[in-house]
Amino acid sequence: MKIALITGSSGLIGSESVHFFAEKFDLILGIDNNMRAYFFGQDASTAWNENRIAALHTNYKHFNTDIRDYAGLEEIFQTYGKDIALIIHTAAQPSHDWAAKEPLTDFTINANGTLNLLELTRQHAPDAVFLFTSTNKVYGDNPNLLPLQELETRWEVISDHPYFKEGIDEHMSLDQTKHSIFGASKVAADVLVQEYGRYFGMKTAVFRGGCLTGPNHSGTQLHGFLSYLMRCSITKDPYTIFGYKGKQVRDNIHSHDLVNMFWSFYQAPRSGEVYNAGGSRFSNCSMLEAIRMCEEITGNKMKYSYTETNRIGDHIWYISDVSKFKSHYPTWSYQHDLQSILSEMFQSMSRRLKVTH
Ligand SMILES: NC(=O)c1ccc[n+]([C@@H]2O[C@H](COP(=O)([O-])OP(=O)(O)OC[C@H]3O[C@@H](n4cnc5c(N)ncnc54)[C@H](O)[C@@H]3O)[C@@H](O)[C@H]2O)c1
Repeated sequence: MKIALITGSSGLIGSESVHFFAEKFDLILGIDNNMRAYFFGQDASTAWNENRIAALHTNYKHFNTDIRDYAGLEEIFQTYGKDIALIIHTAAQPSHDWAAKEPLTDFTINANGTLNLLELTRQHAPDAVFLFTSTNKVYGDNPNLLPLQELETRWEVISDHPYFKEGIDEHMSLDQTKHSIFGASKVAADVLVQEYGRYFGMKTAVFRGGCLTGPNHSGTQLHGFLSYLMRCSITKDPYTIFGYKGKQVRDNIHSHDLVNMFWSFYQAPRSGEVYNAGGSRFSNCSMLEAIRMCEEITGNKMKYSYTETNRIGDHIWYISDVSKFKSHYPTWSYQHDLQSILSEMFQSMSRRLKVTH
């Protein structure tokens, strides 16, 4: 029997992974205790997604286990052992702002939870491929030190800089910079995943996400910017831009394109790899540009206000260079650009919010 174990299986990337791999594996084990509702309130609950997945896939088995619960996880690993061929670890506390409220909770989920999973994989399924969704926030504030110029609707790195053509690559330093508490707990996990590859020879890989997005994101003010923006555009709720004149740039990758990266890696795994994984030059926008696109799609004028103070640890300009991944896996390519991501999000969110047009 060939099994994939997916943590955070009711979340954006976890649920996309369940859909993608359900037809490729005999059994999918999902681990998710809906802590997203604890972090961000009922609006951000992923229970709806858990029910949807269970209804869609008969070979899906859900565990309400907390990834901090080593004994609970051990039971799962003991039961399925070496049949587990793939682990996709996406469960996390994902917000900067929330992490500062409860640093201990943030760290024990993001860092210790990852260590629990790595060690159990080493003990029970050492040949499995272990994939981890890290974040560009591991680079801390370093991207904000790049020489940027202000354009009409966005910040942009100057055109003779090496990062201008493709974006930021994996050589950017993680050190001596402000990460936020969340960024620090993700650094710990990121380095551990690399180490289980480099030190123990396991098939591990780190994917440092830009903005990960898609129609199944339970967007909330503190996490999931495009999804939350589209939600406000549909419901006409007010939206607040924090600092940088609304010209801060993010790259956005559709959850399906990211999971397709996982599939490429799984078929030809390497050890202890690190990849920047975002929308790159192919799919990126500033806040102001995203607002304009949402307005065009929904037909609603956005009610937004501006606060001068930026979020701690927020990047002014971040575009992922995905060339390293492409050089290792040349057949992988994007299937979703920004316009199609937003349109798909609009359709699915309108249905979920039961808005008629
Ligand atoms: N969404 C983004 O823009 C983005 C960007 C960069 C990196 N990432 C990383 O990618 C990963 C997936 O992000 P996402 O957007 O799918 O997140 P998400 O919040 O949609 O999904 C994560 C899931 O993990 C679950 N979870 C949280 N704590 C748990 C615990 N202790 N035990 C079991 N389950 C728990 C939550 O209930 C949620 O359903 C995270 O590691 C995140 O840090 C996300």
